[in-house]
Order: sequence, then structure tokens, then C-alpha cells
Amino acid sequence: MRVVVAGSADSAACVVSDLVEDFIAASPSPVLGLATGETMEAVYAELVRRHREQGLSFAGVHTYLLDEYLGLDGEDPRAYRNVVRRLLVGHVDMEPGAVHGPNPHAADLAVECGRYEQAVRAASVGLQLLGIGANGHIAFNEPGEPLDSTTRVVALSERTRTDNARFFPDGQSPPGRAITQGIATIGAAGHLVLLACGRHKAPAVARAVEGPVTSDLPASAIQLHPNVTVVLDSPASVGLACC
Ligand code: GLP
Repeated sequence: MRVVVAGSADSAACVVSDLVEDFIAASPSPVLGLATGETMEAVYAELVRRHREQGLSFAGVHTYLLDEYLGLDGEDPRAYRNVVRRLLVGHVDMEPGAVHGPNPHAADLAVECGRYEQAVRAASVGLQLLGIGANGHIAFNEPGEPLDSTTRVVALSERTRTDNARFFPDGQSPPGRAITQGIATIGAAGHLVLLACGRHKAPAVARAVEGPVTSDLPASAIQLHPNVTVVLDSPASVGLACC
């Protein structure tokens, strides 16, 4: 595992953007795994800037979402498919149909989870962006979920719902359930790039990178992967012994 500590959140986003840009340049048909959350906003802003100012092209790139809330209207701006459209996809030259995600409105969610699992595996994600929850979740794999999990419907923890309430209007709670890629699904990607910024992420980062691999801290599963880059700003790195 490589750990990169950048001087600021913006420079951490640039490091991740470099990895994405290099990946796109090196792949004949790039398949990029997208994450959501506030941490990723600076990455998507930087990628859009590079598209506009430096000609970074997303033509031919296919993207797969990690997760999606259940119970939101299809037009809801908090739906992750709409988030990535607003932050990235709608501003670059990605083809219509190049954004793939689980369908939270499917009549049979178990069938939909199986379909999406197969779709992600068949597409073979080359580079997977990851954030990390303050409780150590990746995608929506909450503490206690098995490390060999695949795409499924999950209940969100109170901690995650509280943390993500800031994206919703006052008084509106985030949904209690979501569809998420499993930890094993995520682990099938070729390169995991985890970005974390801020002091509030430091305890989870330290456990994910240097603690035991345990379902109590789902992000610790990245230690099992042969090709991982963890990119941090200084405050997120303070719990690490290595840096
Ligand atoms: C959500 C997403 C996760 C993401 C996390 C971190 O819960 N499902 O994929 O890692 O948010 O979010 P933030 O970057 O806002 O702290």
C-alpha cells in the first residue's frame, strides 16, 4: 500500500486527479469507479477544470457508482447518480450511457443487486475511487458487515445518517437504506484509490491503514488488496505511525 500525505485537501485532490488522468491515458477503454461524498467534490472540480483548460477527455470512459440511496425520487439532487452528473459527468465529454449505477427503483431489489454485481464484475473496474466514513465505512458497507460481501441492500447506521444529514434540507433525514457494492465487489477493482481529508477522518484512516483487518472497520479490507493508494491531507494522517 502506498500512502501519500499532501499538504492540503486541494493538493490531495490534485494527487488523486493525477492518478485518474494517468489511468485514463493508459487504458484503451477505461472503467472508472466513482465515489460520492464531500471529499470527492474537489477531485471532480479538478477533473472538470482539466477537461476545460487542458483538454482532458473522458470520451470512451465508463463509470460505475459505488452505491445509491433507496427511497429518493429519481430527480432528487441527493441521489448519487444526480450528484455525479452535477459535479462531473454533466461537464465533461462522457457519452450518454457511460454512467452506470444500481437502480434504486427496480421492482425487485434482490434481482437488481445481482444484476449490478454482475455488471460491475463484467466491466472490470480499473481504478476505483473511495472515500471513507468517519466510522470506517466504504461505499455503504457499515461496521459489522462481512468482508466478503457483494452488492446488496443495506441499512445505514445512525452515525452515517447523522454525518450525511448535512446534504439534506433542514429537518429531512437521509434515507435509512441503500444499495451498495460489497467489500468483495470493490476489492475486484484493479487499483483502489482512497482519499480522506480532515482531522475527523484520522481515527478511521489509522485503523484502516495500520489496524487489524476486521469487519468492525470495513475500510481495513483495503489491506488485503495488492494495489492501493491512500491519499491524505495532513490532518487526516495524524493517527498514522508510518508518516
Ligand atoms: C458516503 C458515501 C461513501 C463516502 C462517505 C464519505 O457515505 N456512501 O462512499 O466514502 O460518504 O463522505 P464524505 O466525503 O462526505 O465525508
